[in-house]
Amino acid sequence: MDWTRRLLSFSVVFCVLQKITHTVDLPPPCNSTIYCTGEILHHVQLAKIFSDDKHFVDMGLLDNPDKIRTTFLDLLNSSTSGIVDQKKLIQFLNTSFTQPGKEFEEWDPLDWHKNPNFLSHITDPELRSWAADLNDLWKSLGRKISGKVKDLPDRHSQIYVPNPVVVPGGRFREFYYWDSYWVINGLLLSEMYDTARGMIENFLYMVDSYGFIPNGGRVYYLNRSQPPFLTLMMESYMAHHHNVTFLRESINLMAKEYDFWMTKRSVSVQQYGKNYTLNRYYVPVGGPRPESYSKDYELAVNLTAGAKQSFYSELKAAAESGWDFSSRWFYGSTNTLLDTKTSLVIPVDLNAILCRVERTMAKFYTDLNMTNEASKFSTALEHRLEAVQAVLWDESLGVWLDYNINDTSRNQNFYPSNLAPLWASCYKNPAIVEKAVSYLEISKALSYQNGLPTSLKETGQQWDFPNGWPPLQHMVIEGLEKTEYKKAKEIAFSLAQKWVTVNFDAYKKYNAMYEKYNVEGDGKPGGGGEYEVQLGFGWSNGVIMQLLDLYGSRLTSSAISTPFSWIPFTLPLLIITFWV
Ligand SMILES: *[C@@H]1O[C@H](CO)[C@@H](O)[C@H](O)[C@H]1NC(C)=O
Ligand SMILES: *[C@@H]1O[C@H](CO)[C@@H](O)[C@H](O)[C@H]1NC(C)=O
Ligand SMILES: *[C@@H]1O[C@H](CO)[C@@H](O)[C@H](O)[C@H]1NC(C)=O
Ligand SMILES: *[C@@H]1O[C@H](CO)[C@@H](O)[C@H](O)[C@H]1NC(C)=O
Ligand SMILES: *[C@@H]1O[C@H](CO)[C@@H](O)[C@H](O)[C@H]1NC(C)=O
Ligand SMILES: *[C@@H]1O[C@H](CO)[C@@H](O)[C@H](O)[C@H]1NC(C)=O
Ligand SMILES: *[C@@H]1O[C@H](CO)[C@@H](O)[C@H](O)[C@H]1NC(C)=O
Ligand SMILES: *[C@@H]1O[C@H](CO)[C@@H](O)[C@H](O)[C@H]1NC(C)=O
Ligand SMILES: *[C@@H]1O[C@H](CO)[C@@H](O)[C@H](O)[C@H]1NC(C)=O
Repeated sequence: MDWTRRLLSFSVVFCVLQKITHTVDLPPPCNSTIYCTGEILHHVQLAKIFSDDKHFVDMGLLDNPDKIRTTFLDLLNSSTSGIVDQKKLIQFLNTSFTQPGKEFEEWDPLDWHKNPNFLSHITDPELRSWAADLNDLWKSLGRKISGKVKDLPDRHSQIYVPNPVVVPGGRFREFYYWDSYWVINGLLLSEMYDTARGMIENFLYMVDSYGFIPNGGRVYYLNRSQPPFLTLMMESYMAHHHNVTFLRESINLMAKEYDFWMTKRSVSVQQYGKNYTLNRYYVPVGGPRPESYSKDYELAVNLTAGAKQSFYSELKAAAESGWDFSSRWFYGSTNTLLDTKTSLVIPVDLNAILCRVERTMAKFYTDLNMTNEASKFSTALEHRLEAVQAVLWDESLGVWLDYNINDTSRNQNFYPSNLAPLWASCYKNPAIVEKAVSYLEISKALSYQNGLPTSLKETGQQWDFPNGWPPLQHMVIEGLEKTEYKKAKEIAFSLAQKWVTVNFDAYKKYNAMYEKYNVEGDGKPGGGGEYEVQLGFGWSNGVIMQLLDLYGSRLTSSAISTPFSWIPFTLPLLIITFWV
């Protein structure tokens, strides 16, 4: 029995809350016959004219899509081999498409300040001056979508949004969903309240238009989302700039996004004779990802038609998790992307995020005096707390672990996401906090010079060893810091110092901020995965700003100059000197 059918049979048992659409003929990611399906996409991507498949799907059209399609079909028809030769293909691209990046106008944020207050809390002068540079970087990452995208949407893969955005940077020339949480946290420290609010309003607009928030601002990202941070973006905004009127205007769309996750992304699991509802990443959409078309297509080349569609769907679910790609989703024996089975996993971090969303929604509704809705979310939170404890908590390791609904196993490997419930305060019994902290202490994960690794497995995937990622550092550090344990707070600070040091050293060396870093060595950007490491970089800048804000009086630009850090090196020498 192939795994699709196995999945189907399990689905019947477990996925009672959603209609199963996991059949061979899955719908395409979007209906554009240029950007999401069809002959042009297929031929251009497999011809590998550009080094990155994302290049083609980010190009704009010079004519209407039907005309361009006809031109191409004529070319195809006139070729005897069934393949348009490279020269003609390039000519076709030159006459029918614009280069990528043309849908934007550079945009200088009007609410930018030279000296936001958080800078004055940073004691180390080198770190303070670096933070001021990061504050400047918002200007180069700000983009406004040009009016032609609004007027001629079918000539662009860019999705129109009304307000300017801060993009991650590099090949990521559109907004991304979960990245924006840390971007917005950074913007708020920079006191750029209008830009932050505008980005939140864009996401609300997405929910209004599509019923959910896509992975990023491109049509080929419709039908998959990313970790659900909208409510937490609003939580951050309200903490800096409380505005009940804005909250009242937005709350329905926030509730609508939550409903999307609860209806389209939930699973029912039986444990100890009880049914629990939890969430997973799940994208029942077929075809290669348009922005990585040739890679997906070539990987699937030996699979049967049905297995191909399931594989494509699992890759998209991994992309929805934000961890594309990782050993975290591997179930199988090839140790390659072909083992990706994201939809079988109930992820700790997704459920921790939703736990915090439920608590925050209950609080928002309470602030708005809407008591019925508030109690609906309080009840949802109670259910979540029980489900997380029953299904994800592993008493023998003393930590939360991803749960596989197919074989009911928990993934025993280290991932920083295992600690996400600390960050979300997603537990009832405070005694388990101490266990989770000792899990971290005895794991090898604290032994790396530059921060927490994404896993301890080296697979060549970018969400694995030896890469460290900004959002994971932040969630673990904030999670440890908010506990009542001195030891946990010490670990939090030491992780923050490591992360600040590697970012700062790389910044001095390359004059750039990267999307990820190597947890080993002396300040190298991370590697692996599907594309070259990117610079910019939205969430990296946001996380550094948050750490500098949190520990501004204690962090130092050179880890060696930490007060008393000379003791371990010089004390033995002193002792020897005196002894002799
Ligand atoms: C589901 O679990 C069974 C039994 O453990 C295993 O044989 C099968 O390969 C698993 N299916 C998938 C898709 O991982
Ligand atoms: C594509 O078109 C079909 C049929 O009109 C529609 O049901 C579906 O929602 C569309 N999908 C997208 C992503 O627009
Ligand atoms: C392909 O070319 C042939 C012969 O020139 C023509 O009869 C046919 O209609 C063309 N097909 C398409 C799809 O344009
Ligand atoms: C045509 O395409 C090639 C390959 O992308 C590019 O080098 C060249 O600049 C393009 N010419 C025009 C006029 O766009
Ligand atoms: C894909 O997205 C479109 C537009 O949001 C929606 O109408 C359609 O139902 C989605 N399809 C699937 C399979 O989720
Ligand atoms: C609060 O939000 C309301 C409604 O969107 C808006 O009109 C008002 O200007 C906001 N107030 C502040 C201080 O931002
Ligand atoms: C749990 O859900 C399953 C599937 O819907 C159902 O058959 C079963 O009776 C439920 N069990 C309990 C204890 O509610
Ligand atoms: C597909 O099969 C061929 C022939 O066995 C093999 O050489 C190739 O490596 C396989 N490709 C993948 C992606 O598994
Ligand atoms: C909620 O109700 C209290 C007590 O009636 C009132 O003081 C407060 O202004 C109300 N808040 C909002 C946001 O309407």
